[in-house]
Amino acid sequence: MISKRTLKNIAMTIPQQVKIVEVGPRDGLQNEPRPITLQDKIALVNKLSETGLRYIETGSFVSPRWVPQMANSAEVFAGIKRHPSITYAALTPNLKGLERAIDAKADEVAVFVAASEQFSQKNTHCSIAESLERIKPIMAEAKQAGLQVRGYISCVLGCPYQGEVEKDIVAKLAKSLTQLGCYEVSLGDTIGVGTAGKAQQLIHHIKKDVAIEQLAVHYHDTYGQALANIYASLELGVSTIDSSIAGLGGCPYAPGASGNVATEDLVYLLQGLEVESGVELNKLISAGQEICQALGRKTQSKAASALLHKQH
Ligand code: HMG
Ligand code: MG
Repeated sequence: MISKRTLKNIAMTIPQQVKIVEVGPRDGLQNEPRPITLQDKIALVNKLSETGLRYIETGSFVSPRWVPQMANSAEVFAGIKRHPSITYAALTPNLKGLERAIDAKADEVAVFVAASEQFSQKNTHCSIAESLERIKPIMAEAKQAGLQVRGYISCVLGCPYQGEVEKDIVAKLAKSLTQLGCYEVSLGDTIGVGTAGKAQQLIHHIKKDVAIEQLAVHYHDTYGQALANIYASLELGVSTIDSSIAGLGGCPYAPGASGNVATEDLVYLLQGLEVESGVELNKLISAGQEICQALGRKTQSKAASALLHKQH
């Protein structure tokens, strides 16, 4: 049996505050096969802006040929009601994407690389080394425009094409991204195969080179492990967590991968741990209900389903 003293020690290592990076309007919708109206996309961001979230990835400026669902991200940025305390960010694969993001007045941008050569080729049509080269001019131009850059690494705990991924490759990429100027690196378990033990081993390995304060985690929930992986990451001091409203999402280049951990489930977990996120769960649930209704699909959030069921 675990003693109270041990529990207290564990609790002490968990951060008291967590920043949630809401990726629903981008990661959540990018792979949605059904058409989504511009108004529904704008309404989602506006609803999320009322929940206490401080960071919303609002869209992406990638090739519309490859990801048609994000083709109207500029219109989404133009249509939303912005709150001064919220960062409205965009994903940018290259200089053209960055220029579109600057035109759309994104507050911040995110670049992305993969820890697997095959995934890198499928997702961005270039090798891992070439993707790092592509990032260099983005960093320079973003700096000139006064924009901070976040970095993502995909496939950190497994790849849909090559299977196992070496921790060393992930650690080297995390180091490279911070050296290139990314203020934060988000570790993406793109296909949700990771488990708590593997997540901890990976983070232990990376934090030799990159400060824990600069690491974020981005868990897709394909195998139902995302909340366990988040808890395991919190234990190591990670205090930035990506999630998606109603658990929407997936990557077009990761077949079979499901959505990110649901933001509602994440906030429920954090409330239970008395970790401050600043987000109001009831408002979040309402935002999730609205987008699920618009998409004609059921929420993937168990906490939202249970709490809504209780109300009726
Ligand atoms: P490409 O086709 O190899 O590049 O795409 P290209 O430079 O030869 O350009 C081809 C055409 O695309 C040209 O147009 C360009 O102008 C246009 P054309 O001359 O044929 O008419 N183009 C663009 N148009 C608009 N905006 C742009 C842009 N760039 C080129 N930015 C490229 C290379 C990287 C652009 C492409 O492969 C791409 O857009 N990939 C992005 C794929 C993507 O969005 N994946 C999902 C996001 S990543 C993710 O979900 C993972 C994450 O959540 C973390 C995790 O879970 O692991 C972040
Ligand atoms: Mg993702």
